Order: sequence, then structure tokens, then C-alpha cells
Amino acid sequence: MDTLGLHFNSVSRILLLTIFSVLCINTWWSSAEASTVPQELLRGFKATPNPSISSFQPLLSDSTGNYSLGFLRVNKNQINLAVLHIQSSEQLWSARTARLPRWADPTQLFFNGSLVLSDPHTGVLWSTHTDGDRVLLSNSSNLQIQKVDGVTVEWQSFDFPTDTLVENQNFTSAMTLVSSNGPYSMRLGSDFIGLYAKFNPSTDPGQIYLKHKALEAKAAVVKGQGPIRVILTSDGYLGMFQTGSTPVDVQSFNSFQQNVSGIRRVRIEPDGNLKGYFWTGLSWIVDYQAISDPCELPSSCGPYGLCQPGKGCSCLDNRTEPISGRCVSPENHISGDLCSAYDNKYKVLRRSGVELPYKELMGYRKMESIKQCETACEMNCTCWGAVYSNSSGFCYILDYPMQTLVAVGDETKMGYFKLREGVGKKKVNAWLGLGFGLLFGAILILGGVVGLGWYRLRNRGVKGYVEEEGIGVGPYKDLGAASFRSIELCEK
Ligand SMILES: *[C@@H]1O[C@H](CO)[C@@H](O)[C@H](O)[C@H]1NC(C)=O
Ligand SMILES: *[C@@H]1O[C@H](CO)[C@@H](O)[C@H](O)[C@H]1NC(C)=O
Ligand SMILES: *[C@@H]1O[C@H](CO)[C@@H](O)[C@H](O)[C@H]1NC(C)=O
Ligand SMILES: *[C@@H]1O[C@H](CO)[C@@H](O)[C@H](O)[C@H]1NC(C)=O
Ligand SMILES: *[C@@H]1O[C@H](CO)[C@@H](O)[C@H](O)[C@H]1NC(C)=O
Ligand SMILES: *[C@@H]1O[C@H](CO)[C@@H](O)[C@H](O)[C@H]1NC(C)=O
Ligand SMILES: *[C@@H]1O[C@H](CO)[C@@H](O)[C@H](O)[C@H]1NC(C)=O
Ligand SMILES: *[C@@H]1O[C@H](CO)[C@@H](O)[C@H](O)[C@H]1NC(C)=O
Repeated sequence: MDTLGLHFNSVSRILLLTIFSVLCINTWWSSAEASTVPQELLRGFKATPNPSISSFQPLLSDSTGNYSLGFLRVNKNQINLAVLHIQSSEQLWSARTARLPRWADPTQLFFNGSLVLSDPHTGVLWSTHTDGDRVLLSNSSNLQIQKVDGVTVEWQSFDFPTDTLVENQNFTSAMTLVSSNGPYSMRLGSDFIGLYAKFNPSTDPGQIYLKHKALEAKAAVVKGQGPIRVILTSDGYLGMFQTGSTPVDVQSFNSFQQNVSGIRRVRIEPDGNLKGYFWTGLSWIVDYQAISDPCELPSSCGPYGLCQPGKGCSCLDNRTEPISGRCVSPENHISGDLCSAYDNKYKVLRRSGVELPYKELMGYRKMESIKQCETACEMNCTCWGAVYSNSSGFCYILDYPMQTLVAVGDETKMGYFKLREGVGKKKVNAWLGLGFGLLFGAILILGGVVGLGWYRLRNRGVKGYVEEEGIGVGPYKDLGAASFRSIELCEK
């Protein structure tokens, strides 16, 4: 009895101790994580994503604690290496990787002179290609790789902006801001800021939809004096500079010369607008929009949409209504061109009283009639549509899938549009695929049953055959399809 009691006691003690230590380690772990984010990373640093973190895993903090570099979880299980403004979780920068790595152990970020994001399958996904001594995050959110002298900056994230510029960050003609969803970008020309839409992936940089030329009120852009650059100033304007500190252009924000306490940023938005914000300490306030009328955005109502000023969205095809905000179902996947024989099936839509939102920036050809304009588009498989103005005779040929047009009262402005007929074909294919799949599955099951019978027969006579048989089944199992699993179950 006594020994039994003692025995029980020690078991429970061990159990309690284990539970206690697990709890201890857990609390220690989380508090350590919250308070000891380093302010510099040295050679030899290595980090892997923690599976228990659902949103952001900080790896490096700036001196104020306002910003952090870390793993940001996106699309449920992928990693974006990003710099966040901590209080708002707003993403200010992220590494442009060709592919987003998985939020799982083999993915790692290390610093060996270069900051490298890699996984064992693909190898290096992203690298700064430097030979620095430490990684720092400045108090203005600039991620820098420095030499040990603390002066030489080998690389900085401000030279590779994503979709955002912060206060005093230089934006030059070598850089591009790209919207998080991909199609829209901001670039600099010789004397202007341009916003571009890339609706056809094979055109670069795509169609310009906003061109802000320098006003040159205080200083002129001088040819041969080098490229211009743009800076978001603490005073609350987007300044264009060439040489010196006198701006050649000033786009002032609503909070111009107001004493805002927080930081400022501008971002190219997923709808193609360029917006300015300032931080109040609690939230971001919009104090600038490059495009104020929603109908002037490049695709405010989506593909094949029609924007009616002051009224909202409808569809170019007047027989359809937008379904969950779309005029074209996603199966129609409108991209590329209509040139391959298989894809050259389309139906034609016509609509009068329509106009392109940024036609002043588009190329056109003069034509005698709408018929001529339509024919030019019809004959050319890279053409997705044409818009014609009867009063001017301008024919706009579009080499990207139709986006949103603007409704106008003038019925002599007319549009001709091609709409890919993908839906029916896709369905037939799907059914055909299913049919083949079923047939294939049935053949395999039959094969499995026959094989099993044969296996049993052989097994009764020749024992030594079992192992070889196992090898024989191997490749089938490797395929891993559901029907094969059912064969395995049958065998058991
Ligand atoms: C750092 O690692 C990358 C990827 O493995 C490698 O290509 C690079 O040469 C390394 N740099 C140094 C300085 O060792
Ligand atoms: C940010 O850093 C700069 C120098 O690197 C310093 O002059 C400035 O005071 C710092 N600002 C804050 C808010 O810490
Ligand atoms: C921006 O460019 C100017 C002029 O080239 C330079 O003096 C300044 O240090 C740059 N600012 C940053 C944050 O790189
Ligand atoms: C701006 O605000 C700060 C504190 O918020 C204050 O110290 C400074 O004097 C103000 N400047 C102006 C020009 O109002
Ligand atoms: C930065 O952090 C300081 C204190 O750490 C805070 O007073 C300030 O409001 C923060 N600024 C921003 C822009 O978050
Ligand atoms: C739709 O547009 C066509 C061609 O422009 C026109 O003939 C037809 O009357 C319109 N239908 C409606 C319901 O507006
Ligand atoms: C287009 O313009 C021509 C002359 O410029 C005119 O004869 C014709 O009636 C107009 N068509 C329409 C539909 O307004
Ligand atoms: C077809 O259209 C494209 C642009 O949309 C143009 O570059 C090309 O020259 C056109 N081809 C012909 C034969 O007109």
C-alpha cells in the first residue's frame, strides 16, 4: 500500500512539474518575443517562421518601436517579408519576391552579409546581394544594410519601394511603385509623374492614365540637368525636384503646412488612385487623392463596366447587371489577346454614349466612320475593342481587354467591344475531363482488383514473391490519387 501511494505521488509530481514547466516556457516564450525584438541583426542571424503566429512575426525593430521588419502572413500560409507601421499594421515596404514562400519551417531568412530569404526547394528567393556587417531599421522605416563603420550604406529599402513612399523618401526615375494587386504603377518621366495601367501583361509599362507635368512655377526643368525626383515633404506636399532644393512642382495636400503630429505616406492603391495619408496617432487620414472623380479611375467598375458620373456602376452590355460587382464572370478570363486559333472566338458588344476615361492620353487614328473604325479592330486579333467619336473622327483601338468606360450624353460617341466566349467551351471541357477521369479511375480499379486476385494467387504458392509484389505496387501508390487509396484500403 505504502509503496503504491509513494509511486502515485511521484507520478503526479512529475506530471505537475511537466505541466508547470510547459506553462512557464510558454509564458517566457511569448513575453520574450514581445519585448526582445532586436534593433540590429548581425552576420549569422537566422530566422524561420513560427507556426503558432497567425499574423506578423517581428524580427527587427527600429529605435522608437514604431516600425518592425518581420514575416507577414498572407494568403493563409505564405510569407511576405515586410516592414510594418506597428500601431496600424500598415505595410510600408515588402520584398519583391517572384514567388511567396510558404509559412513553414524550411523557409528561412538569414544574414551573411546579404539579407537572404530562401527555401530548400527553390533556393534563394530574394537577396540584397551585399557584403554588409549589420541590418538596421531607421526611425523613418528605412531598412538598411550597413558596414561596421555605421556610415556606408550598402543597400536600403528606400531604393526599392513597393507601393508606398514615406516622408522624405526619394523617388527617382529608376524606381517604380506598383499597386499590391499588380496592374497599376507610378513612374517618373523627364518632367512628369505618370500613372500606368497594365491590363495586358505583354505591354510594359502599359497605358498611361494620369500624367502630372511639372508646373515649373518656382524653378524650371532644365534639359540635360539630370532626372527629376519626387519627395513627400513633412510640410504636406508632393514635391518634384531636379537640382537643388527649389521644387519644380508642388502638389499640395489638404493638410499643407498644417502641423500634423504623425508621419505621412503616399500609396498607389489597388484601384489605381494615388493617395496621401497622415497618421493622427489613432488612424490614417486621407489628405490627397490624385484622381477625385471615381469615373476617372482606370477601371472603377471593373472589366466591361460602365461608370455613370454620380450614379455608379452598370455594365457595357445593357442586358446584364453587375453580379457581385462584376460584369464578366471570372471563367471568361479576359487576358492576353484573341490571336491563337483556339481563343479567337468572341461575341461583339456595341454601346453608344460611351467614352474612354483618359482618352487625352491615348493614341488614336482618324477615320471616316464608325464602320471603318470597327473594321480596323475586327481585322486585328490583338484588338479588344474600339471607341469612336463621330464629331472628331478619332478612333481609339484598345490592345487590352475592355475596362470601365464612362457614360456620356453624346450618343455619337460609340464603342465596339469583343468579349471572349469562354464559358460554354470551359463547361464542355470540364465535363469531358470528368468523363475521362471516371473512365481512367474505373480502369485502374479494375486493374487493381485483377492485380489483387493475381497477387493472392501467387502468394498462396510462392512466398518469396511478396516483397517483389510490394515493389510492383509502389509506383501506383506514389501517384496518391483517391482511387489508389481505395485500392490500398481494399487490400487491407
Ligand atoms: C550568402 O548566402 C547566399 C545564398 O546562400 C550566397 O549566394 C552568398 O554567396 C552568401 N554570401 C556570403 C558573403 O557568404
Ligand atoms: C531619428 O533619427 C535621426 C537620426 O538618425 C534623429 O536625428 C531623429 O531625432 C530621430 N527621430 C526620432 C523621432 O527618434
Ligand atoms: C534624397 O536625395 C537627396 C539628394 O540626392 C539626398 O541629399 C538625401 O540624403 C536623400 N534622402 C534619402 C533618405 O535617401
Ligand atoms: C507643431 O507641433 C509641435 C508639437 O505637436 C510643436 O512643438 C510645434 O511648435 C508646432 N509647430 C508649429 C509651427 O505650430
Ligand atoms: C512613434 O513612437 C513614439 C513613442 O515611442 C510615439 O510617441 C509616436 O507617436 C510614434 N509615432 C508614430 C508615427 O507612430
Ligand atoms: C441596349 O443597347 C442596344 C444597342 O445599343 C439597344 O438597341 C437597346 O435598345 C438597348 N436596350 C436597353 C434595354 O436599353
Ligand atoms: C457622323 O458625322 C457625319 C458627318 O461628320 C454625319 O453625316 C453623320 O450623320 C454623323 N452620324 C451620326 C450617327 O451622328
Ligand atoms: C494590330 O493592333 C496593334 C495594336 O493594337 C498594332 O500594333 C498592329 O500594328 C495592328 N496590326 C495591324 C495589321 O493593323
